Amino acid sequence: MSRASLAKHPDEVTRMFDEAAGRYDRTNTLLSCGQDRLWRARTRAALALQPGERCLDVACGTGVSTAELARSGATVTGIDRSPGMVARGAARSLDLRVGDALRLPFGTAAFDAVTIMFGLRNVVDPGAALREMARVTRPGGRLVVCEFSHPTWAPFRTLYLRYLMGGLPRIADRISSNPDAYTYLSDTIRAWHDQPSLASLIQQAGWTRVSWRNLTGGIVALHRAVAPAQGSGPPGEGPRQEPYTAPQEPRTAPRPHTAPRREPAV
Ligand SMILES: C[S@@+](CC[C@H](N)C(=O)[O-])C[C@H]1O[C@@H](n2cnc3c(N)ncnc32)[C@H](O)[C@@H]1O
Repeated sequence: MSRASLAKHPDEVTRMFDEAAGRYDRTNTLLSCGQDRLWRARTRAALALQPGERCLDVACGTGVSTAELARSGATVTGIDRSPGMVARGAARSLDLRVGDALRLPFGTAAFDAVTIMFGLRNVVDPGAALREMARVTRPGGRLVVCEFSHPTWAPFRTLYLRYLMGGLPRIADRISSNPDAYTYLSDTIRAWHDQPSLASLIQQAGWTRVSWRNLTGGIVALHRAVAPAQGSGPPGEGPRQEPYTAPQEPRTAPRPHTAPRREPAV
């Protein structure tokens, strides 16, 4: 794929990831100055996985996110549309499969928790993927979406945008096996939902108790939600931002907030 075709065609996106698979993990860690590892660890903590629980890692890529989740002791399955990315993860001895987020090959309510890390932005119909993820999650099961977002402090946002549009593509030119994929990365990050807008999308897909917190000043946001109980009514309170305080999520459900607290759109 040449410059970001933001009207994503699934086969072109898959081909791009097939071509980037060779140096994908290393390139990401270099471009994010090692922050990608922290972001995946925070996702695992936010999911609060317990040993023996079943977790689905959608858009698992080379399995780097699946491996992080497996550290919890949960039984984790990864699925990705790119055969090249999945093949690259073969050495990891994980349950990685080739498949589409829009047609997950799993039964209804098959998982206790489901996550997608840096994948939702690449799916051609994110709303449909979120609905499909809700289908395979048991009532009361958890969702965490880890995705690039929009820094909330204007001076930091300006610096970050400079890096996204200038520094990052130049570095990727030198180290990636498919530099175009990183132009696509910059363009899709800039075009992606801000935090409140993604929270609304998740809620519209049928998830309840939607909340989010920012990581690294909002470069990344973690959106959490809960699959509705069977026969439950409308979702109730709107999405809210949470203060980020503890690295480990409590096992119990978060306390309900009376008034939604949202940050301004960026
Ligand atoms: C940036 S990688 C993320 C990989 C991994 N989760 C991580 O944390 O590094 C995005 C992945 O989304 C996958 N993807 C895009 N569209 C998809 C779809 N419809 N179904 C499944 N995977 C998809 C791509 O093949 C790619 O491997």
